Amino acid sequence: MALSHTDTSEIIPGHGILDGEALMNLAERYSTPLYVYDGDQILKNFRAFQKAVSNLDSKVHFAVKANSSIAILSLLHTAGAGADIVSGGELQRALTAHINPKDIIFSGVGKTDDELLLAMHLGVGQINIESGAELGRIAALAASNNLKCSIALRVNVDVDPGSHEKISTGQNSTKFGLALTDGQAESYYEQITAHPNLTPSGLAVHIGSQLRNLAPFETAYNELLGFAGHLRSNGFDVPCLDLGGGFGIDYEEIMHPDFTEYGKMVERIFKNTEYKLGFEPGRSIVGNCGNLITKVIYVKQGIDKRFIIIDAAMNDLIRPTLYEAFHRIDSLAERGKDTSKADIVGPICETGDYLARNRQMPMVEAGDYLAVRSVGAYGAVMMSNYNTRPEASEVLSYHGIAHLIRPRRTVEDLIKMEINPFL
Ligand SMILES: Cc1ncc(COP(=O)(O)O)c(C=O)c1O
Repeated sequence: MALSHTDTSEIIPGHGILDGEALMNLAERYSTPLYVYDGDQILKNFRAFQKAVSNLDSKVHFAVKANSSIAILSLLHTAGAGADIVSGGELQRALTAHINPKDIIFSGVGKTDDELLLAMHLGVGQINIESGAELGRIAALAASNNLKCSIALRVNVDVDPGSHEKISTGQNSTKFGLALTDGQAESYYEQITAHPNLTPSGLAVHIGSQLRNLAPFETAYNELLGFAGHLRSNGFDVPCLDLGGGFGIDYEEIMHPDFTEYGKMVERIFKNTEYKLGFEPGRSIVGNCGNLITKVIYVKQGIDKRFIIIDAAMNDLIRPTLYEAFHRIDSLAERGKDTSKADIVGPICETGDYLARNRQMPMVEAGDYLAVRSVGAYGAVMMSNYNTRPEASEVLSYHGIAHLIRPRRTVEDLIKMEINPFL
């Protein structure tokens, strides 16, 4: 399938390698703040994931929430990716990237009637149900509109993923999935099986994101397998197990993920079990493949620390303030070996507007470019217009060509949808 090309594209100098000079050239051309993604590495990561689980009957669905750029979805589609989506908006993005509806899994605790109907009309491959209320709603909608769909139950295996609490979904204290301890999950599976418009496609689990240890995955997958076996032994058809995403990345070093041990663990658990397996990786495919290029506006010496004030802010990358997340930040300007501690902060009027605190940084000056590393996942997708700041633009480099995939909007674009009743 042909990738969509924008008319704003240019050959990346330096044989297509996204080094400091290439990033600075792109920043000069498109201005900052600017997201720059390495499309070749995104594809390598995706193929490495596919390979790691290729000894099993498997399909890899990219988690669109991690990076919903249509160009990136389109690139992943060329490598055979399906999509894991959590909203009608993401559904439309996946379709725009030509992902076949049957290769789409619809997750999320609060799908609306409109979203469920759209998914059913389009023939989305699997809808993951997370509550009895949602099951009742989809059953009623399917029956009254004479639609059919395949349903999986997302279960909650009550496993702590050992990640940040705001991205942990595996415990019973979270809103996600159906507990296995109160008998409800089995009774819902029975209802799906009995319903003329619904087909049971199996079970799903996703215990959280940025897992840096395989043990919680292993515990969760064994629980899932145990429950699936129980359903099968009671005569239910359980064709697929959706193992979710969650594989973490190294934010300190820019190392690309190695899925080999994960693949071996999955194989150990599921070989000879005759389930079709689904995977929903997001962060591990794109996370290390993005840079946020930003320019130093001022350097301010405070009483006891230095502030590097940059043109990117929490509206461009909220992870540091939302999750206390660490992103490596490198100066693209040569400023010698001397360093001192600094807070790297944006122009937004919030103390929480920082990309790093107490970070050992070279003696950068106004006008220097910095590269905030590993921002390919949960970066641009969470941008906002707080302080009426247009979002950063986005560029995708692929095969030595840089494509502008999202131009910056103007302030006029931002305010033109508003209605002033007093004029
Ligand atoms: C249901 C589901 N699947 C997949 C993912 C992707 O997770 P990750 O980006 O950690 O691979 C998420 C994100 O939290 C999710 O909620």
